[in-house]
Amino acid sequence: MKKLLDVHGLPTPLWQLFTTGTEPIRDHLRFPVIVKLAWEHCSVGLTQDAIVQKKDDLAAAVKERIATFHQPVYVEEFIDGREFQVTILDGSKGLRVLPPAEIVFDTKGTGAFLTYESRWNEEHPEYETSHVVRAKLSPVRMQQLYRLAHKTFRMFGFRDYCRLDIRLSDDTFYILEANANPGLGDSDDYGMTVSYKAAGMTFADFCWEIVESCLRRKRV
Ligand SMILES: Nc1ncnc2c1ncn2[C@@H]1O[C@H](COP(=O)(O)OP(=O)(O)OP(=O)(O)O)[C@@H](O)[C@H]1O
Ligand SMILES: [Mg+2]
Repeated sequence: MKKLLDVHGLPTPLWQLFTTGTEPIRDHLRFPVIVKLAWEHCSVGLTQDAIVQKKDDLAAAVKERIATFHQPVYVEEFIDGREFQVTILDGSKGLRVLPPAEIVFDTKGTGAFLTYESRWNEEHPEYETSHVVRAKLSPVRMQQLYRLAHKTFRMFGFRDYCRLDIRLSDDTFYILEANANPGLGDSDDYGMTVSYKAAGMTFADFCWEIVESCLRRKRV
């Protein structure tokens, strides 16, 4: 995903892949960074320790992650800014970017991101330290985001629907992640739900649109 985004000039945080932790750290990385597991989802492995403030501490953090999770990690510059979940639907009249959702964090800076505990561990102090709202953006920014979403969906060859996780910093939208087959849900604390409801759809409508998109493809 990261390679394709780079090759196609779609903005994504600067990154480096590590498989052992002994690789030389490339100069292009800007700190602070976040250490992410290459094969995981749902914020697995994303604790506050995943944030590394300076280069000297990176090799140890990377080695610890690789040893714990038995998989490569990639290190990205931490984008300090607003976070959006952008759902795209391949509707009967073409691609439709639904009104984006925003994750609003109680904290700021490198403490403000979707950690594993904040999403899944009800016992943890980080639990629900963010909430989801319909994003408010100026018309110009919204257009920028819509164009980026269209381009990304097409570039990856996605089908039916997808969800992009995006951050905005210094007037640039960065694609953190493109989810080809994101979970479907009807809970209001999920960005996709906020988005399809803002577009006037129920959960059933939304699911049916996805099914219809599959059926259209089968007919071709
Ligand atoms: N480069 C970054 N800068 C700032 N925050 C980041 C960055 N990368 C990830 N995050 C934070 O970590 C969260 C999870 O990261 P990401 O979406 O890449 O992984 P995931 O575990 O695959 O998530 P999902 O459950 O959405 O599939 C993001 O929603 C964001 O809050
Ligand atoms: Mg994500």
